[in-house]
Amino acid sequence: MLQEKITQYTAEINAFSTDHADELEQFRIKFLGTKGIIKDIFDEFKAVSPEEKRTLGKVLNEFKQLAEAKYQSLKDLTEVADTAKDSGLDLTLPGEGFEVGARHPLALVRREIVEIFNKLGFIVAEGPEIEDDWHNFSALNFPEEHPARDMQDTFFIKKGGEKGDIALRTHTSSVQVRMMEAGKPPFRAIMPGRVYRNEAISARAHCFFHQVEGLYVDENVSFADLKQTLFYFVQELYGEGTKVRFRPSYFPFTEPSAEMDISCTICKGAGCQMCKYSGWVEILGCGMVDPNVLENCGIDSKKYSGFAFGMGIERIANLKFEIKDLRLFSENDARFLKQYKTSLI
Ligand code: PHE
Repeated sequence: MLQEKITQYTAEINAFSTDHADELEQFRIKFLGTKGIIKDIFDEFKAVSPEEKRTLGKVLNEFKQLAEAKYQSLKDLTEVADTAKDSGLDLTLPGEGFEVGARHPLALVRREIVEIFNKLGFIVAEGPEIEDDWHNFSALNFPEEHPARDMQDTFFIKKGGEKGDIALRTHTSSVQVRMMEAGKPPFRAIMPGRVYRNEAISARAHCFFHQVEGLYVDENVSFADLKQTLFYFVQELYGEGTKVRFRPSYFPFTEPSAEMDISCTICKGAGCQMCKYSGWVEILGCGMVDPNVLENCGIDSKKYSGFAFGMGIERIANLKFEIKDLRLFSENDARFLKQYKTSLI
């Protein structure tokens, strides 16, 4: 009898809900009042047999707690609703929602570059942004007082350290030196990172930018390996059918050296502003690692050879997104940044 009543009332309590204070008060009087159901049930309980008492006692207590807990939680709710009403707030209005952030376009492009080279077995290597002369210049075959050092306008920090003047690195080739000094061939790595050059800030130049350089050193590495690696990279990044061409160039740390152009990604070679109506755009410098550089890093240049390349991430991003002003990358304007949403987490 008693058990049945409790089951029935339990269902009623569970189903009950309101955010009106007066309805809640009715609930309180009905169940928890001095003449309420719980009081009645407890009175009835006094009359049951001692065996029944043992099992029913627990059920009864739980029932009472349920009624009290329900009352308390609805009381909090009605209070919030009342305060909201008093202050003119409408809690039924939809919430304001918040925007999910976006990755920086340079981070997106760097990630894409890293993923492509990962597929070819290149690992990622990193190094310090504050470098000494040895790692940024001398080990890379830039002779002392040689005009090649002026190719990269350097921000110097301190004159004369143990390994020469301290400066902000002008390229991540310094990481290649650190890697070769610290290990043994074969090396197959890319070096993404920020680099600094003392240039007046404009739409086309900035005092810092981002690079990905790459290095592959092993026995019998040839210029053909370099070409095929970079060709594969470009097909992956800009799509199949993108053409490449190599033009002879000069870097102190590579011999022979080249600059690589690709068919313009914007006009597909027809001619546009981006490619200055030539159909081609330059995207990177590369070459076979100069034997002097290998020897400077303690590697036997008779046994080993290698290739290296380096590109600016901003440039690669421009050719993907047609961003005309370099300054946008570092101004942190949310209207610019949020255009480059991605499904990549
Ligand atoms: N370090 C060169 C630069 O910053 C790029 C480069 C790297 C060129 C490796 C050739 C080989 O301009």
